[in-house]
Amino acid sequence: MNGGVYVFLGPPASGKGTQAELLADRIKLPHIALGDILREAVRGGTPLGLRAKKFMEQGKLVPDDLVISIASDRFRKDDCRAGFIVDGYPRTLKQEKAIEEDVRVAGLVMEAVIYINIDVSTAISRLSGRRSCKNCGAVYHIKFNPPKTAGACDKCGGDLYQRKDDTEEVIKTRFSVYALETVPLVEFFKKSGKMIEVSGEGTVDEVRGKIFSSLGLD
Ligand code: AP5
Repeated sequence: MNGGVYVFLGPPASGKGTQAELLADRIKLPHIALGDILREAVRGGTPLGLRAKKFMEQGKLVPDDLVISIASDRFRKDDCRAGFIVDGYPRTLKQEKAIEEDVRVAGLVMEAVIYINIDVSTAISRLSGRRSCKNCGAVYHIKFNPPKTAGACDKCGGDLYQRKDDTEEVIKTRFSVYALETVPLVEFFKKSGKMIEVSGEGTVDEVRGKIFSSLGLD
């Protein structure tokens, strides 16, 4: 039987990472977050990280050729044989063509594109309180989704930190880049018949409920 691929699409702070992780736990597929892969490369000072750093710090997209090759390599790993859940990729029409080809070559099917839509003002209030685990990448919010112990990850005990691109100026750039580069992709997926649009307003659990029921999960 063909395995399924699930894509999470949406503006910054719409909850793509949070919801992709919950779906991954539920359907037991790997969760691949392009932003996490890139941040890890930046932290490690790898050649990829050195190229990506300046784009990420400015809130701009890392060039397509670089991102496409990282994503394609990751999708070819053994744990993706039965399918995978990807958040933050594709973000441009060129990346969409690339994932379509990756999915086809792997003999998988694009099961659903989950588009989480939220108001810019909600997104901004979420970004200011976001904390991420240095160790495993788990995401929290100091008010809306706090860890059990302040400053420590519930899953692995790692230290929590605030992302460098969560400053007011960089957030503005991230939103304008989203409008320019990724909104055309939303229109594209709308026409494909595979897109599920879910409002990202409401609690994490409410949004999870809407996504799961759209996918026929309880
Ligand atoms: P990336 O890390 O993907 O950033 P993003 O797209 O801006 O998305 P975020 O991670 O900010 O938000 P999210 O939607 O995942 O929300 P989250 O669940 O964390 O990318 C970073 C950078 O890497 C890019 O700017 C670019 O430079 C580069 N990059 C990445 N992919 C690329 C690509 N394909 N091509 C080129 N460049 C690329 O939630 C946010 C906060 O809200 C958290 O604190 C969370 O706890 C909280 N929260 C979540 N849901 C709720 C809720 N329902 N109610 C209340 N709080 C909530």
